[in-house]
Amino acid sequence: MKPRCFGRFTLLLRVGVVAGWAVTGLAVTRAAEVAPDALATQTREQRDARMAWWRDARFGMFIHWNVSSVPAGVYHGKHNAFAGEWLMHDEKIPVPEYRQYAAHFNPTQYDADAWVRVARDAGMKYIVITAKHHDGFAMYHTDISTWGIRDAGPFKRDPIAELAAACQKHGLKLGLYYSQAQDWNHPGGATPGGKWDKAQAGNFDKYLREIAVPQVREILTKYGPVAVLWFDSPYEMNRERANLFLPLLELQPGILFNNRLGGEYAGDFETPEQGLPENAAADRDWEVCMTMNDTWGYKSTDHHWKSAETLIRHLVDIASQGGNYLLNIGPTPEGLMPAASVERLAAVGRWMNTNSAAIYGTSASPFSKLPWGRCTKKVDASGARLYLHIFEWPAKGDLLLPGLKGTVEAAYLLADPAQKPIPFSANSAGVVLALPTSAPDALLPVVVVRITGQLQVTP
Ligand code: GLC
Repeated sequence: MKPRCFGRFTLLLRVGVVAGWAVTGLAVTRAAEVAPDALATQTREQRDARMAWWRDARFGMFIHWNVSSVPAGVYHGKHNAFAGEWLMHDEKIPVPEYRQYAAHFNPTQYDADAWVRVARDAGMKYIVITAKHHDGFAMYHTDISTWGIRDAGPFKRDPIAELAAACQKHGLKLGLYYSQAQDWNHPGGATPGGKWDKAQAGNFDKYLREIAVPQVREILTKYGPVAVLWFDSPYEMNRERANLFLPLLELQPGILFNNRLGGEYAGDFETPEQGLPENAAADRDWEVCMTMNDTWGYKSTDHHWKSAETLIRHLVDIASQGGNYLLNIGPTPEGLMPAASVERLAAVGRWMNTNSAAIYGTSASPFSKLPWGRCTKKVDASGARLYLHIFEWPAKGDLLLPGLKGTVEAAYLLADPAQKPIPFSANSAGVVLALPTSAPDALLPVVVVRITGQLQVTP
């Protein structure tokens, strides 16, 4: 991990420890196994049914967008090395001064339909957008506060309403992110590290009751189906406070929520961020969220973009461990997705066009570690399909599937419509495929291996 990420990362760990929730960049850690009251009566089958679309999807878009895109990480001419959406906090920007950025937040080029098409064409099945981040600014029409897009700035449209409509139109699920505890603008909101402006003074419980809870109720009632509620950074949250939010989930039957509510609620899935898990918990659902550069919100000076190939490898690595990938975009104050993000997503989409069968609806690899790449699988009553994602094409063409037993029926390149058979043989070490010696011209080639009968892999 590059040092510039480290400040935010350390802070996250600190916030996480204080509030008793679990997030690390490199491993999925277990949250307390406490079933939320509202969902406690659900059977395993009911829960599986609720999670089914999400488990099939494997790939979603995160969008971090608010007033912080106006300063975009630059304060009084100084580039903050770490902060994008955290600029107000990290620079201790006084409340009245930060509020002036809202006057310049006029994203007239925002086109929700175009954004959803970018996500859809990349192969993403759901979008999670910041309805309110830690700066407290409502990105939707709220009647609870004037600190929001309708009342505090020139842009009178409702970005969340437009995105909800576009998601409906294109068949993507909509998730809403809401920072329930931190709020640097409303009196009483949590401010990790202490307050820096007298306007922030106030009672946290009053803040929860009068701002956060009513706003969560709003976002769960105004925008049609909401598939995921994505809480964040449960600083100062405890059981009693978390319990204020739980009944609201019943406003959206079938909604999923993450493990960042606080009060030791495990939620439906874990949320490791910025890194690939090494020991993913097999008994919990999980979703890695990750930036494409180093910042969640738009940051004009952050050009440290991951390549499309890296992003595809991340998606594959995560799917091979049974998780989801929530890949972030930080749109500009004009309402545009950064060109660097759009280009990369288009390349991911070209790969998905040919290879999405190796991602959607797959489950974790049956192999412990593969020196040449990753594996995802689909198992049904008649047999199994292994999808071999080949990171390092073998120089001599021989590819070992270590410990694989069972009847291989066929092997072929997923990208090959003719499904030209790839020869294979079995020996004591497993099954060996005789691949062509030169790799196909693809960012990441995938070979399908069809197995009849039971899939067996010995360690
Ligand atoms: C953190 C950060 C935040 C970002 C989030 C995404 O909690 O506070 O800025 O929204 O992680 O996972």
